[in-house]
Amino acid sequence: MELVELLRDARAVVGFTGAGVSTESGIPDFRSPGGVWTRYDPRNFEFDRYVTDPEVRALSWEMRTEFFAEPWAPNRAHLAFARLEDAGRCLGVVTQNIDGLHQDAGSRTVVELHGTARRVMCIGHRPEYGTPAGCGWDAPHTWAFERLDAGEADPHCPRCEGLVKSSTVSFGQQLFPGVVDAASDLVRRADVLVVVGSSLQVYPAAALPMDAIDAGARLVIVNDEPTPFDGVADLVVRGRAGEVLGPVVDALLG
Ligand code: APR
Repeated sequence: MELVELLRDARAVVGFTGAGVSTESGIPDFRSPGGVWTRYDPRNFEFDRYVTDPEVRALSWEMRTEFFAEPWAPNRAHLAFARLEDAGRCLGVVTQNIDGLHQDAGSRTVVELHGTARRVMCIGHRPEYGTPAGCGWDAPHTWAFERLDAGEADPHCPRCEGLVKSSTVSFGQQLFPGVVDAASDLVRRADVLVVVGSSLQVYPAAALPMDAIDAGARLVIVNDEPTPFDGVADLVVRGRAGEVLGPVVDALLG
């Protein structure tokens, strides 16, 4: 396949993934039919509403509890990047996803642009301008579920009594300090950037493929549907992430 040939001589592959890399693990994406934003109104999850409205916090915890109710496992697409990294041919992955499946697959360098649902953090008593202002406390996400199960509808920070939020980046929230720079640095080191399962509609994440191209990388897009960057890609593979990448890495690594 063309993708095998394009990657055969690559020694600095970087993955850039979106929710579409995890749908074959059973996690719905956001904008496909049946996706999260076709079932929930994203405006209900904006940072300022989370801060001011306990009902929004309760809805968010309900959504998070539903998210972790399933035992998600990495699929062949996540494993493909981990295998290439183990073989010294992939520098790591920049992901928009919060599910932690790249790390579960064995990827060691993972930049989580939108944070992680695997942890919760203190965001302070009244953070403003979309910027968490917590005391520094954080914990595994299970800490929150234990309190919710014990009947605490709105868990607060055990250290300073501030608000607690999943360690993810919501609409209207600033990205965590240094994350975009780390992501840009990584994609600029790529000889091939492989974008998988993203509609490439949300910024600043969607600007990163151009950073890679500006730094001389070739661009591959593996996606179920067209994206706004198909026109500047060296190769577009229309297909399912795991179904495409599993056999490609088998062919590359044997
Ligand atoms: N294989 C290939 N492509 C897939 C697969 C699959 N198995 N499943 C879905 N896709 C494609 C869809 O066609 C779609 O183009 O993946 C893309 C997923 O796009 P979105 O649902 O918009 O997800 P994403 O690009 O990650 O969204 C970016 O938006 O809401 C915010 O914070 C959220 O990180 C998210 C960001």
